[in-house]
Amino acid sequence: MKTRVGVLSAGRDCPGINSAIHWFVTSALDKDLVPVRGMMFEVLGIVDGWKGLMEVKPDKKESVKNWIMPLDKEIVRTWDRHGGTRLGTSVSNPFDPKKDQSELVIENAKKLGLDAVVVIGGFDALGVAYKFFREGMKVVGIPKTIDKDLSETEYTLGFDSAVNIITQDIDRLRITAGSHSRIFIVETMGRKAGWLALEGGEASGAAIILIPEHDFVMERVAELLKIRKKAGERYSIVLVSEGSKPRGMDMVLERRGQDGFGNYYLGGVGGFIAEQVEKMAGMEVRYVALRHLQRGGTPTAYDRRMGRKFGIGAVDMIANEDFGRMLAWKQGEVATVPIKKALEQLNLVNVEKFYNTKDYRSRDQVL
Ligand code: F6P
Repeated sequence: MKTRVGVLSAGRDCPGINSAIHWFVTSALDKDLVPVRGMMFEVLGIVDGWKGLMEVKPDKKESVKNWIMPLDKEIVRTWDRHGGTRLGTSVSNPFDPKKDQSELVIENAKKLGLDAVVVIGGFDALGVAYKFFREGMKVVGIPKTIDKDLSETEYTLGFDSAVNIITQDIDRLRITAGSHSRIFIVETMGRKAGWLALEGGEASGAAIILIPEHDFVMERVAELLKIRKKAGERYSIVLVSEGSKPRGMDMVLERRGQDGFGNYYLGGVGGFIAEQVEKMAGMEVRYVALRHLQRGGTPTAYDRRMGRKFGIGAVDMIANEDFGRMLAWKQGEVATVPIKKALEQLNLVNVEKFYNTKDYRSRDQVL
């Protein structure tokens, strides 16, 4: 008897997901590991995340063909090198209070004969996984999000690739900023967590870094830029995380609305800062929002390696019946943690430890 496992990626895409799927399938179908694990696997990829389990009609052949992708080693052979997710994804919430389809998902999973489901997701998608676990579904989580805002793990797939993109893009912007003696305001993603801006700023040597965990004072930003200019700097890069806000003000949002999980669409604070700097400091400013470029492209070596560890780890978890838990990276080792615990709070930047609140950059001492 084979253990039939469904694999899905849910929420936003990022580099590293395909690597996790590649290694999950490769390890699950490795014949040499059958005697070690004492079980055999069959892997079904579920198209477009939770949506696939809501839309599929298990009794209709054509529908199963559209929403379920049987995976073998040959199919996933090159997936580890590709960004995004070959299974597709969606920001769908089966527990949406306006249209709860959770029972349908459970019924479909049963009809498809799924013995376990591997969910590659961030905060929202793993939240759904945990709710299904409470309903009796045997779920295993793999953490992925460029925001790195999940607790109980020091790494989430996609983060390193995104930081590399930010670094490379800032390297490019420096060239034109320097030629024109301009200020560049560069906006990163990250939601409520400032990790992308902080670590992208460290890697690229941005002059000013603004993060959601510490409200900034607009006048101080302008002042810091003037000081730099006076000191002879031709240009400055200000890196701002999309969730940052000026002290005493509401968040600046370019787009109205919320997704299916109630998250506001973020983005736009960089434009506000650009206008203010021009007014307050009288400097020539340009604004670049990196947006989805940060989630595109191929995974870095680190994301491929972490995808490998998490993909193989997910097979081990199923073999060990370690359900309702998520793979995690802790002190240089793979571990598993309860999904519930990972969702209790967001992993945000510890300002006191990592941030210089006077000069808006990473702390100047590391010990
Ligand atoms: O959670 C990942 C993330 O990239 C956030 O940093 C960002 O706010 C959001 O997703 C953007 O979502 P969408 O792809 O729906 O625009």
